[in-house]
Amino acid sequence: AAAQPLKGKHVLITAGPTHEPIDPVRYIANRSSGKQGYAIAAAAAEAGAAVTLISGPVTLRKPDHVDVIDVESARDMLAAVEKALPADVAIFAAAVADWRVANAGEQKIKKQAGAAVPQLALTENPDILSTIAHRTQGRPPLVIGFAAETENVIANAKAKLAKKGCDWILANDVSPATGIMGGDSNTIHLVSADGIDDWPSQSKEDAAAMLIAKIAAAIGKDRP
Ligand code: C5P
Repeated sequence: AAAQPLKGKHVLITAGPTHEPIDPVRYIANRSSGKQGYAIAAAAAEAGAAVTLISGPVTLRKPDHVDVIDVESARDMLAAVEKALPADVAIFAAAVADWRVANAGEQKIKKQAGAAVPQLALTENPDILSTIAHRTQGRPPLVIGFAAETENVIANAKAKLAKKGCDWILANDVSPATGIMGGDSNTIHLVSADGIDDWPSQSKEDAAAMLIAKIAAAIGKDRP
């Protein structure tokens, strides 16, 4: 059998977008395929971890040997994360909507000739990564966030590491020319208190395997 460096560890992962309702049939959302988070969940399970994957709406196949919890909104995602704790490692790969509609309709908003266009008032969603990373009790020992940036990738990632209170930030350049959004490959820079580790351009599966190897080295059974 393959090495199981994360056997006995609980790994919690968020992935995909969140959908924030406007009314029962409409929503606002971020662009996110969920591919990177799902690949990390699969790699963690392969490494022997007990994996909880809290997933926004995506069209991906559920990875084997992973406990998948489907959610829609950011608030649902935070509640599911809190319920799934404790964890040894938490990886926040979801593209959470920063805002939700404050005045979401109970019924479908009807388009009526001559009527005023609906006005959407937005209100801030909880920051799931920051909420969990700043917990004083039950904080996972290793909290990992992502920083999808279109410019000043490293500087923004360092600022995010401090602001969010997490241990590692996986930073990547998602400017449209890179094709990373929705694509199959990823170029990651791991930013931590120890400095910056530039990873090669690789498939999202290989990036996931590299992340799991780094996690295993930090907390796992094959720690030197
Ligand atoms: O601030 P920004 O959205 O760029 O931060 C990205 C990181 O924060 C990702 O790890 C993302 O999953 C997490 N995040 C979150 N909850 C939010 C916004 C972002 O967990 N409301």
